[in-house]
Amino acid sequence: MSSLSLDFIEKLKAIVGEDWVVQGEDLVASYVLDETPPPIRPQPHLDVVVVKPDSSEEVSEILKLANQYNTSVFPRGGGTGLVGGCIPTASGVILSFERMNRIIVDRDNLMAEAEAGATLRDLLNASDEAGLFFPPHPGDEGAQIGGLIACNAGGSRAIKTGVMRNYVRGLEVVLPTGEILKLGGKLLKNNFGFDLMQLIIGSEGTLAVIAKAWIRLYPKFPATATLIIPFESRTTAVKAVPKILHAGILPLALEYVEKIPIERSAEHLGLKWPCRVGESFLIVILAEQSNEALYSQCERLLSLCEEFGSLEPLLAESREEQEYILKIRSEIYSSLKPDMVDILDATVPPASIGFFMDEVERIAKRYNTYLPSYGHAADGNIHVHIMKEQGWRMEDYDKVRDEIYAAAVGLDGTITGEHGVGAVRRKSVDKFLNPTHVKLMKEIKRIFDPKNILNPGKVLP
Ligand code: LAC
Ligand code: ZN
Repeated sequence: MSSLSLDFIEKLKAIVGEDWVVQGEDLVASYVLDETPPPIRPQPHLDVVVVKPDSSEEVSEILKLANQYNTSVFPRGGGTGLVGGCIPTASGVILSFERMNRIIVDRDNLMAEAEAGATLRDLLNASDEAGLFFPPHPGDEGAQIGGLIACNAGGSRAIKTGVMRNYVRGLEVVLPTGEILKLGGKLLKNNFGFDLMQLIIGSEGTLAVIAKAWIRLYPKFPATATLIIPFESRTTAVKAVPKILHAGILPLALEYVEKIPIERSAEHLGLKWPCRVGESFLIVILAEQSNEALYSQCERLLSLCEEFGSLEPLLAESREEQEYILKIRSEIYSSLKPDMVDILDATVPPASIGFFMDEVERIAKRYNTYLPSYGHAADGNIHVHIMKEQGWRMEDYDKVRDEIYAAAVGLDGTITGEHGVGAVRRKSVDKFLNPTHVKLMKEIKRIFDPKNILNPGKVLP
């Protein structure tokens, strides 16, 4: 028996139409999970109803109703999160935005107006068709605009192009109490009042439901190349990172990967990692406004490689070759996932990644386990994977994770630079975040959501 009353369900159907209300354990099953590794994923509540609104007004009506019935509401995007942020941890309503996926590109203002349910792929395509470009690549292309903004998604291009919050210029949000609020718009400058828009970006669906966004676009980067620079050791690879930036090269991406996980990812895809030499690699993507600028950056980088003492670099110029390399990099997570306990995204000041990875290696030795690490080297954002391999014992999980967090925080870092808190990292908030910060967050949540109906059980301890 569902705890959601028939009366409540009938009223939902009256708001969105009968076809857009989905109930029953089998039918809701594909709406209750995300990409979080199963060993740490919260158990989803199956006593939920999936509701698919078509406008901000419908979202507003749903939230007003949920307040009246004291029912939890869980906004859901593409379900690509890694910390259980959209998993319903109580009975209630799942808001699914698949009908709200419209995008209009305003070429003259270089701005896209996108509804929450449009995917990253839709945004990239719509920008491209308009002769423009959305520069960052904040994750899986099936991720939706609402979720990308709610989680302030990062990705591998942040070093040059920033993260999601650097592109959002306006939001239409629905508050947990049902009011519709427009914040900003097609504006490049806006200093009117406290910046509530930036507060909502990254609040992981706890403060407001994002219905629509105005997103800044840019001219295309017509010239790109990808280099794989192999090294004998991690230490020399990591030391090269700031030297590339000092030389006046600002790559679109500057990633660090290691031989075992990258070859495993290639194998998982039925491909072959193209670099035959080296144990550690930097993947450098260059993107410039002209071929001349690209060649001069490439030459500069290749001459630096000799100075770094790298092995023979590999240069990919064709689109296919570059996509091939990127595909292998992007699928590391999926290839490791079957044997994974957790993927961490602790972030340290970029110059400290070498120290951080040394500490991770010491932790791995101490617990006799394998902690493969790779990631966004120039951002200081390293993904350490806790694996069910070698001598792994699940009872060590909390200790291993907390020691890795402590190592990052000890280097003036943060426990999450990319994936957020969601449900999974919530228990670490009290331990690693300043108590005054936590207190202010709780007070802000109470002002926005007095009945605590919006995405309860997430972010806040
Ligand atoms: C990556 C995701 C997991 O960097 O953040 O591959
Ligand atoms: Zn990442």
